[in-house]
Amino acid sequence: MAKMIALITGAGKGIGLEVARQLGQKGFTVILGVRDLAKGESAAVQLKGEGLDVVAKVADVADDHSVKQLASAIETDYGQLDILVNNAAAYVDWMETASTAKLESVLTVLETNLFGAWRMTQALLPLLHKSQHPRVVNVSSGAGSHGEMQFGLTTNKGASASYGISKAALNALTVKFAVELEGTGILVNAVCPGLTATAPGMEAMGARPIPEGAASVVWATLLPDDGPTGGFFRDGKTLPW
Ligand SMILES: NC(=O)c1ccc[n+]([C@@H]2O[C@H](COP(=O)([O-])OP(=O)(O)OC[C@H]3O[C@@H](n4cnc5c(N)ncnc54)[C@H](OP(=O)(O)O)[C@@H]3O)[C@@H](O)[C@H]2O)c1
Repeated sequence: MAKMIALITGAGKGIGLEVARQLGQKGFTVILGVRDLAKGESAAVQLKGEGLDVVAKVADVADDHSVKQLASAIETDYGQLDILVNNAAAYVDWMETASTAKLESVLTVLETNLFGAWRMTQALLPLLHKSQHPRVVNVSSGAGSHGEMQFGLTTNKGASASYGISKAALNALTVKFAVELEGTGILVNAVCPGLTATAPGMEAMGARPIPEGAASVVWATLLPDDGPTGGFFRDGKTLPW
């Protein structure tokens, strides 16, 4: 049987890199989508050293040309794609509110977190349609949820405005793709990894280790064919929108 191919954006570090590791350990050929190829190749060397089948490719999700080039390279090299994980994300100052936000920064956040996932999914759909068990996972956040009581949309006096809005919009995009693609076999879900220690000092805020956050994402990549689509999950459990 041919090996299954997984593509993860923003895979040079953090949760994306660990999702790559865990999918590699499951036997996938993993493509690390990265903005900086040198950094991506050094991450790939690390994972190859662990016996995993990994390659790094440039994928700036905010750049149409970069995304199209990547899709074309995957078509040439593999002819199909089984798993797309839209993990790349941009942030601004966490204190930013809707009144204080600089709209240029808001555009950068939306360009990556919303349009990046949208652009990637559009570009890779033809290759996902060729897979037997295609899955799209949008790495979202409780920051985009009305029901998250620590860092959600209605907490902290509206701080993290553009990030929260981008993730709420990403959740809406997930539903739109899922409904449109129902019956094609492509399952599209949004997943929150939970507060995860990808930056110094985050453990002190109660963040969990990176492998745990990544496992929450990997769960949705491995759903059975009759699994859910259009949902929002953390650790396999439904989250409120
Ligand atoms: N950590 C948490 O507590 C937490 C909680 C909830 C949700 N999440 C979500 O989980 C995902 C991963 O988070 P993380 O903490 O691992 O983040 P991270 O360490 O900041 O990594 C973000 C990654 O996205 C990449 N990226 C940014 N803009 C990009 C672009 N235009 N094109 C391609 N790649 C781009 C970065 O690449 P460079 O290295 O080139 O900058 C980096 O590799 C994100 O979607 C985040 O919103 C995280």
